[in-house]
Amino acid sequence: MQLNDNLMFARTFLRSPKMLGSVIPSSRFLISHLLRHFDWKTANVVVEYGPGVGTITREMLRCMSSDAKLLAIESNHELASHLKKNVDDPRLHTRLTSAANVRKALNGLKLDGADYIISGIPFSTIPRKERLTILRNTWKSLNPGGVFLVYQFSGAVLPSLEEIFGPVRQEFELRNVLPARIFRCEKNGLAAHHRKNGH
Ligand SMILES: C[S@@+](CC[C@H](N)C(=O)[O-])C[C@H]1O[C@@H](n2cnc3c(N)ncnc32)[C@H](O)[C@@H]1O
Repeated sequence: MQLNDNLMFARTFLRSPKMLGSVIPSSRFLISHLLRHFDWKTANVVVEYGPGVGTITREMLRCMSSDAKLLAIESNHELASHLKKNVDDPRLHTRLTSAANVRKALNGLKLDGADYIISGIPFSTIPRKERLTILRNTWKSLNPGGVFLVYQFSGAVLPSLEEIFGPVRQEFELRNVLPARIFRCEKNGLAAHHRKNGH
């Protein structure tokens, strides 16, 4: 299964390198580092942007409670159908769309908001306007106290994250093919862009 997943991922990378941002899926070290950020007792609704072949998705499903829901948003049609075919779990809802449409995808499942949103989409290759639309809709989609967790190979997204979320905690995971940065953003009070504008 893992070889099949890795081949599928690499083949898709060769077709759309900018959209994927990496030639192989995240390492087990990066995955366990990311999962340490979750409190699975309160993670009732989790959203994942860019699940790819489901490397992190499967591990989250292992940790999530039996009545929790995982909405996976993947914009690449081959990867979205690969995930639908290969991960069979009633808690998983895979949608072929962009992370920009997270609110619509949550509404479609009759869900008001998410407790955690995790994202591996390559923000540095996404134009600023689209990047900010995704981040604003992410902020709106989180429940109060909710967490947005981002893993990236560069720090380019940090100013945009701070613009929307305010202070961001940064960590590193070096045991990955490209060393990864992890950004933890929390939804506390008003959005940073509203506070700045005096609303
Ligand atoms: C670096 S890969 C991460 C794959 C997987 N989560 C992992 O850790 O191995 C980035 C993924 O984001 C997807 N992606 C890129 N832009 C997206 C967007 N705007 N909305 C949703 N998914 C997107 C790509 O198709 C790809 O599957």
